[in-house]
Amino acid sequence: MKIFSPATVANVSCGFDVLGFCLESIGDEMVIRKTDEKGIRITKIEGFDLPFEAEKNVAGVSALALMEAAKPNCGFEIEIYKNIKPGSGVGSSSASAVGSVFGINELLGRPFDKTQLTNFAMKGEALASQCEHADNIAPAIFGGFTLVKSVTPLEVLQLPTPANLFAVIIHPQIEIKTSEARSILPKQIDLQKAITQWSNVGSLVHALHTSDYGLLSRSLSDVVVEPYRKQLIPHFDDLRESALKNGALGCGISGSGPSVFSLCHGRETAKNVARAIKTLFSKTDIPFEMYLSRI
Ligand code: HSE
Repeated sequence: MKIFSPATVANVSCGFDVLGFCLESIGDEMVIRKTDEKGIRITKIEGFDLPFEAEKNVAGVSALALMEAAKPNCGFEIEIYKNIKPGSGVGSSSASAVGSVFGINELLGRPFDKTQLTNFAMKGEALASQCEHADNIAPAIFGGFTLVKSVTPLEVLQLPTPANLFAVIIHPQIEIKTSEARSILPKQIDLQKAITQWSNVGSLVHALHTSDYGLLSRSLSDVVVEPYRKQLIPHFDDLRESALKNGALGCGISGSGPSVFSLCHGRETAKNVARAIKTLFSKTDIPFEMYLSRI
C-alpha cells in the first residue's frame, strides 16, 4: 500500500500547541506491506539519513505502539520516501509517525479510529521532540484544520476549512531545535496578553466555521510566543510585512520554525505572496526552499 503523509503547520499563530493545518500537496511517501514475519522492519529510507532500527525511527516507534495494541498475527515492512526535511518546522517527524500507523491500520482493516491513531503517532513524535504534542499529528490524520482540545485524555476537534485557502511556506535553511525554541518561552504570561490570545483563538475558530476571511485575517496574530521566537528567524518582520502587503491573510512561524507560513485566499494571491517573499529572501545570503499548497 502506498501512503501520502502530509506536511503540517502547527500553532497557526495564536494557537500554540493546539491548532494546526495540513498541506494538501506537500508530504512524504511510504510503501507498507504485510509480512508473515512478525514485527516492524524498515527496509528502505530515501531522501534523508535516518535510522533503520524500528525502535530508533519515528515511523517505527509509532508503528510499534499500534502493534502493541493490535497484537496482529503478522508483521509489516515499511519503505520511507522522505520529502520533508527533518527540522524544517512543517511536521517532518509527524508525517513519518502518521504515515506508518495510518497505513498499517488500513492493512489491518481499520481496527482503530483517528483519535487512537493520533495517540500511537504521538509516541513516535515524542522520540523526535522529547515531548508529546499532537498539533502536527492531528491535522495530518484528520486533514484540514484541527484543534487539540486536550492531550490527556486525547480529544481532537476537526475544524472546517474554508474554500480556496492556500499556504505559502518559506523554509530558511537554518537549524532551530524545537527544544531550544521551547526553552526561550516564558513560564508565565501577562493576563492582558492571554486575553488577546484567547480572543484570537476563539475568533479564528469562528472564522473557519463561517468562512469569514476578514475575521480570519484579524485573528492570525500571536502576542505570546512569536515575540520570543521571531528573534531566531532572520528577516522575520520583513517577511511578514511583505506577505501582508501582497495580500496574505496572515503570516507567522510554522510550528517552532524556522519555516514561516503565509495564509492566502486564492491561488493567485498565494503566487503573488510567494513571488514577493522569494524576491525579498533572495537578497539575503541564506539558502531557502519554498512551497505552495492548498489546505
Ligand atoms: N507546538 C509546537 C511548538 C510545535 O511550537 O513548540 C513544534 O513542532
